[in-house]
Amino acid sequence: MDVVEAIRTRKSIRGFRPDPVPKEVLRKILEIAIRAPSGVNAQPWEITVVAGEALENIKRGNVEMAASGAIPGQDMRGQAREGVYKQRQVDLAIQIFQLMGIAREDKAKRAEWIQRGFRFFDAPAAIILYVDKSLGESGPLMDIGSLSQTICLAALNYGLGTCIEGQGVMFPDVVRKNTGIPESKRIIICIAIGYPDWDFPANKLETKREPVENIATWCGFD
Ligand SMILES: Cc1cc2nc3c(=O)[nH]c(=O)nc-3n(C[C@H](O)[C@H](O)[C@H](O)COP(=O)(O)O)c2cc1C
Repeated sequence: MDVVEAIRTRKSIRGFRPDPVPKEVLRKILEIAIRAPSGVNAQPWEITVVAGEALENIKRGNVEMAASGAIPGQDMRGQAREGVYKQRQVDLAIQIFQLMGIAREDKAKRAEWIQRGFRFFDAPAAIILYVDKSLGESGPLMDIGSLSQTICLAALNYGLGTCIEGQGVMFPDVVRKNTGIPESKRIIICIAIGYPDWDFPANKLETKREPVENIATWCGFD
C-alpha cells in the first residue's frame, strides 16, 4: 500500500472482530510508528498497550464510572465547541446514528452507543499514549498527534483498523489502576485497535472534509 492510498484508506473503525491482535504485530507497528517526527526529536511519548483481562477491567471500570454519573477526570481538559466546529460534531453524530439505526429520540440506544465508546468499541487491544507531566499541558500534543496518525497508518499494513479515542481515557484513574501508569504521567489519548468487522454499520461511515479551496490560502503563487 503506498502512502497516499494509506492516508485515503484510513478511517475510524468502531466495530471489531473479537480475534486478538498478536503482540508481535503490535510491537512491529510501534517500531514503525515511532519514526514519527517530534519537536527537537524529544520523543515525549510513552506507550502502554493493553489487551486481555487488563483491557476488560478498564472497559468495565469506564462503564461503571460513566453509569455512576462520575465527572470525567480527563487529564486533557476539552473545551466545548461552537459554531462550525460544533456543527461538524453534530453532523458526525447524525451520520453515525443513521448508519446504526439509532433514532434521535431513542435515549436507550444512544446511551448504549456512548457505552460502546467507553468499551473501546469492543476492540481486542488499545494503545494508551501519555507523556511526563513535567512537559506541561499542551507542549507535547503535536508530537502525540503525529505519533497517533502514524500508528493508524502503519496498522493498515497489517489489516488492522483503529479509532483514535479520547473517550477511552476519559477516566484516567481507571486506566492508571489497571495499567500502573503513574500519576506523574499525563494520559493524552488512546487508540482502539483490532481487525475491522466490515459488516458493522458504523464502519461504512465516510466522513467529509472541507475542501482545500475553503481552508488554504496561497501566497506568492501566480
Ligand atoms: C484527538 C481525537 C480524539 C477522538 N476521540 C474520539 C472519541 O472519543 N470517540 C470516537 O468515536 N471517535 C473519536 N475520534 C475519531 C474522530 O471522530 C474521527 O477521526 C473523525 O470523525 C474523522 O473520521 P475518520 O477518522 O473516519 O476520518 C477522535 C479523533 C481524534 C483525532
